[in-house]
Amino acid sequence: MPVEGAIEWRKRAGKISNLEEEIAARPLPPTSVAIGHTRWATHGAPTDQNSHPHVAGRVAIVHNGIIENHDQLRAELGEVEFASETDSEVAAHLMLREVESGKGLVDAMRAVVAKLEGAFTLVAVDAQDPDRIVAARRNSPLVVGVGSNEYFLASDVAAFIAYTRDAIELGQDQIVELTRDGVNVTTFDGAPAETKSFHVDWDLEAAQKQGFDWYMRKEIFEQPKAVSDTLLGRLNDKGELQLDELRMSPELLRRVNKIVIVACGTAFYAGLVAKYAIEHWTRIPCEVELASEFRYRDPIIDPMTLVVTISQSGETADTLMAIRHAREQHAKVIAICNTNGATIPRESDAVIYTHAGPEIGVASTKGFTTQLVACYLLGLYLAQVRGMKYGDEIAALLAELERMPEAIQKMLDAKSTVYDLAEELVDATSVLFLGRHVGYPSALEGALKLKELAYIHAEGFAAGELKHGPIALISQDLPVFVVVPPKGRDQLRDKVISNIAEVRARGARTIVLAEADDEEARAVTDTLIELPKVSTLLQPMVAIIPLQLFACELATVKGHDVDQPRNLAKSVTVE
Ligand code: M6R
Repeated sequence: MPVEGAIEWRKRAGKISNLEEEIAARPLPPTSVAIGHTRWATHGAPTDQNSHPHVAGRVAIVHNGIIENHDQLRAELGEVEFASETDSEVAAHLMLREVESGKGLVDAMRAVVAKLEGAFTLVAVDAQDPDRIVAARRNSPLVVGVGSNEYFLASDVAAFIAYTRDAIELGQDQIVELTRDGVNVTTFDGAPAETKSFHVDWDLEAAQKQGFDWYMRKEIFEQPKAVSDTLLGRLNDKGELQLDELRMSPELLRRVNKIVIVACGTAFYAGLVAKYAIEHWTRIPCEVELASEFRYRDPIIDPMTLVVTISQSGETADTLMAIRHAREQHAKVIAICNTNGATIPRESDAVIYTHAGPEIGVASTKGFTTQLVACYLLGLYLAQVRGMKYGDEIAALLAELERMPEAIQKMLDAKSTVYDLAEELVDATSVLFLGRHVGYPSALEGALKLKELAYIHAEGFAAGELKHGPIALISQDLPVFVVVPPKGRDQLRDKVISNIAEVRARGARTIVLAEADDEEARAVTDTLIELPKVSTLLQPMVAIIPLQLFACELATVKGHDVDQPRNLAKSVTVE
């Protein structure tokens, strides 16, 4: 029997089904207030004790983020007995101390967050105040869902999209209180906070698997639509490129003398592709940097620098910190982001949204191709406002972008070659990916997909670097994927074909992505994956499709959980 005025909780490590079994065995009493959290352990092993919620007497909390001064706070809490090894549990005991001193839950939260260092979203309930949930956020995401007679708190709207598409953005250092009477948001200092409501433009169906075995596979197959949605509405009446949401004046963009692209993981590889396109089209020097490295090396940026950040989730902590650093140096920041209302677009000067719809699979797929589209659009827009390209040249490139959904569809239709390959290579222990020019970031992204999903050694190299070391890795039957540039970039293409011949001569199994009529590439190929004819700079949009399909299928054949690869989280909201 539940105890009046006490917290009832259930928690289990591992899959949600473990928790479902536990609740089926020991049902929870009916309630109108509840909190929960799926947490990737940052402190302590992934065990039942270390999972959330953390309960201290009459209080329970869930926490996303990292409390950096948890050791010091544990010491301050003196005699308290801790049930877990987590940083989060200190917040539960601090909350208890505050409510026991007579504070209400909101004031208790305010007192607790004042002691915490690091990144946190904290959500708390008090058994003696059972109609209230209080949450706070710093450097970690939190949105409020507004339903009919019900409210939700979550890191991402996907968590409550089944119940409502209306949401409220919360700003940095804010506390939100949910009661039967409504939502009340204040700052950490206690002042009323301004909030912004928004409506989510996708629904539950978009967030479900629709007959696919994995979200990732569904998202790979959604790419033609995601790309075409991201291109929608980008032209004005005169046929010129316009980026409506880019709240940045042409005058300002004309003054920019350097671009720095900052991102992580797959988004970083999209940035590497963007560098080739932006420099070629605009002649503005463009650097690409890992967000986690950016602010620690004291980068040279000033008010004439345009910092472009790329993030599917809009919540990646490393990227967010890079934005803050860039803005402190008075650089202007444009975010390329897929998530309306996320922190990264909110903290940037301007945003270009990708319209990929929700990306649920941990491995980014449609996130990548739509980020490429946004980067191309930004490059062409800069070329337009700075007069670096004639209108007809921009129109021709936009027309080619418009044809990309069809080209991607062709790659998807040819999936069986890749699926057969995955079956054949199920026991491979190492796979290499080679490319040059924009084929190089494609190779890096192909390798990342394989690492994160199939858990095998995979590396991407610039093909020209082979002779400087990596060729020593080539051994009999080692699978080597090579992206061949389109015919017409013959000097570059010839070099890549020589690289393929070199690795093949050393026994490698060559899997070559090249145009169907590229007979020279075919001649050095064990398995050919045919690419449609597209211009060089746009080739990553088609070349990446078989690499995504290969990783998804190989992981499936190996029996891995494709949507939730081990040790990975979808949004990395800690540094
Ligand atoms: O949400 P973001 O685009 O900022 O995420 C960046 C990376 O964490 C992300 O791309 C990650 O590398 C993916 N798991 C790759 O598939």
